[in-house]
Amino acid sequence: MEKKFPYQQLLDRVNQSSNITPNNKAGLNDFLTYEHPGDVLFTKWTEPPIIERGKGARVWDADGREYIDCIGGFSSMNIGHGDERVAKVLYDQYMKLSHWFDFPTPERLKLVKRLAEITPGDYKKKVRLALSGSDAIEIAIRTARNYSKKTHIISFYGAYHGQNIATIGITSAGSMHRWYNPIPAADHCIERFPYAYCYRCAYDKEYPSCNMYCVKAIDKLLSSTQTSLGNPYTKVNNIAAMIVEPMQSSSGYIAPPKEFLVELRKLADKYKFMLIFDEIQAGMGRTGKMFAAEHSEVAPDITVIGKALGGGIPMSAIVARAEYFDEMAPGYIVSTYAGYALGCAAANKVLDIFEEDDLLKQCTETGKHLGKVVEDYKNAHPVVGTYSQIGVYFGIEYVLDRETKEPAPAFALELVDTLRAEGLLVQLNGYHNNRLSFVPPIMITKADVDDIFAIMNRVTEKLEKKHDII
Ligand SMILES: Cc1ncc(COP(=O)(O)O)c(C=O)c1O
Repeated sequence: MEKKFPYQQLLDRVNQSSNITPNNKAGLNDFLTYEHPGDVLFTKWTEPPIIERGKGARVWDADGREYIDCIGGFSSMNIGHGDERVAKVLYDQYMKLSHWFDFPTPERLKLVKRLAEITPGDYKKKVRLALSGSDAIEIAIRTARNYSKKTHIISFYGAYHGQNIATIGITSAGSMHRWYNPIPAADHCIERFPYAYCYRCAYDKEYPSCNMYCVKAIDKLLSSTQTSLGNPYTKVNNIAAMIVEPMQSSSGYIAPPKEFLVELRKLADKYKFMLIFDEIQAGMGRTGKMFAAEHSEVAPDITVIGKALGGGIPMSAIVARAEYFDEMAPGYIVSTYAGYALGCAAANKVLDIFEEDDLLKQCTETGKHLGKVVEDYKNAHPVVGTYSQIGVYFGIEYVLDRETKEPAPAFALELVDTLRAEGLLVQLNGYHNNRLSFVPPIMITKADVDDIFAIMNRVTEKLEKKHDII
């Protein structure tokens, strides 16, 4: 039989479908023919739409079909699509100055001061700007290793920190590792531990009687001689930093107990390594606070921000204790577009909009309503095992049986695909591909929440009946 490349199989599927409307079909053909296709949306939807425009929390495809957007550029579009205030700033800044290489502009100076001010940590900070989340995490790791003169990084199972050569090793999402062998950083200086994903605790403990055993387990190993992370008896410590998402996002929007970060901070202080919080996805207001770690009242030594910082324009930042950057010679990090005036102007306007629209308050208020609606949804549908929800950060986990917690990945896949057909775009992920993550713009209203759950309830009930889940 003739061997078909995966993209050709997708192309066949698209062309044989009678549901895909003409402009979407033409776009999918071009995509599969002319690009190296990122297949993310194809793994969730049989018939992904080509999205052409957006406004607020709604997007429209190439044939004019409207959707509620609960993907939001995977947490990039927190202020919503098509904000005219950002558009105006971009136009004005472009006409004034778009980019000036490797030296500050007034917009850039304004932004770094603001970022130092709004990030958690009551200490002197310095900032380095970058373009993507992966860029920024890479710089955070280089910074930690350079300052500590140590190599090892602790990360967590289920973590996503990026997909370049420096970050793929600490990203432990298995689906990413299919394509990377060998992974340089993972060869000898990355150590992973289970995250506080309490619904499926790796240690089979129950929260809260577990007393945060997942952190105690790390402590037990660090206090022994049997890891490459060091030897307390000979005072060897190889750990530069621990990197953690305050809430674990790409693995399914999982919020750990508040004590998790508190205990990790104590561990970092005890063993004297840096704590890096990756706020790239959970930060920028999604949880109702500017940074997710604020819910635990814990400050890291380095905060990494990305995605929504630029409101759709690539921008990321590393905010660290000043002494870490002071240890680096000027020129240690350089990148052509880092800190470009246009991106800084966009980010400054995004921060203004948080103030102008009181977005954190609005997100908290919407979150309260959402909390009630999700709880009702869980109670109405036996296929829902659990959910995490703080502000508009929320993920729902689907199971075949609430007692056994047997994951329901096929149900979740059919659900996400049917939701798309019904006009709701949601992310499928999870440790067992059985969670839906909702990543709407954080400016959604209570009415939007009701619209989302009108579709959710209708479709979930239909599929539960179809699959005899009662
Ligand atoms: C928590 C987290 N860190 C890092 C990244 C990498 O960011 P980027 O895709 O901009 O490189 C992502 C992307 O999804 C993320 O969710």
